Amino acid sequence: MTSHISENPSPLRAVRSGALADTAAIPGDKSISHRSIIFGGLACGRSRVTGLLEGEDVLHAIDAMRALGARIVKDGECWVIDGTGNGALLAPEDPLDFGNSGTACRLFMGLTGSYDFATTFTGDASLSSRPMGRVLEPLKLMGMQVFEEQDGGRLPITIHGPRVANPISYRLPVASAQVKSAVLLAGLNAPGITTVIEPVATRDHTEKMLEGFGVPVAIETDGKGARHISVTGQQKLTGCDIAVPADPSSAAFAIVAALIVPGSQVNVPGVMMNPTRTGLIATLIEMGGDIAIENRRLSGGEEIADLTVRSSELKGVSVPASRAASMIDEYPVLAVAAAFAEGDTLMAGVHELRVKESDRLAATAAGLTANGVAHEEGSDWLKVTGDPKGNFGGGTVATLLDHRIAMSFLVMGLASEKPVTVDDASPIATSFPQFTDLMAGLGARIDES
Ligand code: S3P
Repeated sequence: MTSHISENPSPLRAVRSGALADTAAIPGDKSISHRSIIFGGLACGRSRVTGLLEGEDVLHAIDAMRALGARIVKDGECWVIDGTGNGALLAPEDPLDFGNSGTACRLFMGLTGSYDFATTFTGDASLSSRPMGRVLEPLKLMGMQVFEEQDGGRLPITIHGPRVANPISYRLPVASAQVKSAVLLAGLNAPGITTVIEPVATRDHTEKMLEGFGVPVAIETDGKGARHISVTGQQKLTGCDIAVPADPSSAAFAIVAALIVPGSQVNVPGVMMNPTRTGLIATLIEMGGDIAIENRRLSGGEEIADLTVRSSELKGVSVPASRAASMIDEYPVLAVAAAFAEGDTLMAGVHELRVKESDRLAATAAGLTANGVAHEEGSDWLKVTGDPKGNFGGGTVATLLDHRIAMSFLVMGLASEKPVTVDDASPIATSFPQFTDLMAGLGARIDES
């Protein structure tokens, strides 16, 4: 069995810190960065992307897009992409390695799964243990064949698209923006209309960005609230300019740190406020978090705002299952906020956490156990019983190649009575390479353990 720890693990330790202050310049949104590279690489003409997240996950997407024929170079602060044109990707000569990135891997399966050539997908130990069947199933309906796969849809996987892909209408069995996006991407190379039916709304960056590249997306909501999202394939995508907003999922760590470290006041400018992504902010405000949302404005088709976060006395809340999709990546850091809240915080309907970079429900619960935080874990829920004095800590958390587990528990250690150690902080580079420096700039005490 492959080990879920880096070859050169780098442990870090967070220690109770004085008041955090100043401005947290959060890097670009990972979901939008991936889609900028993919749609820019597929478009006709030139796209210019500023604010791109230069984390390992996105760098893997850049390499993959180059292997499929796009020209991608960095010019100063701007990434310049000359796309291949829709329908004109080249067969990759070598396997595409997606490292730790489930989003890049699944979106590229949709991208190449409609082409009449073979693509092999590989990744690290974490990615190789994640289910790909959820993407392979609809792509098979479009005519794609799976030649090799491990253990029921695990990487490495080789797929081969049909001569002409079959447009489908597909109802998502899981609330997943990755699956939705993979099917829509495959639909771009199929004659006719491809429709994805989404009973639970997930992040809508693919739909918005397609419009930005000149592809109309028809969206209808039926009587039961399901969204029917349709694109007509074999259309031209036209290169465009994209300003990537700050990632709310990365901002979450600075926000929770400012709330739990007494006396803090931190500004977090330009955070994307797309309602499919703001569940954590809504929850923290319900918990009594002092988060001022100012200067709401549009940037590159997305709403952004400047946040000012002040340390607060938090109280436990019940987070409804209906909010899960809008904060799916934020539950580990919410569990950390909940550890400092008065009373119980119940997080319901979070089974999807089990198939993230780690089994995040189990990894979060194990981190809470290691640090003496009272909690209960169910098959699809987590209940955390907080202690506002932060009279816990002292444990070492197994990060299991999961960047968000590492960052969440480092945030915990900034306010807990005893320090918190994470066994391997290197996965943080997948999504937030600046994390340790940025937190240190706010006054956080995080050092090598
Ligand atoms: C993402 C979708 C989510 C999220 C991931 C990014 C995306 O995954 O967890 O970090 O960019 O589409 P699912 O679609 O599996 O929920």
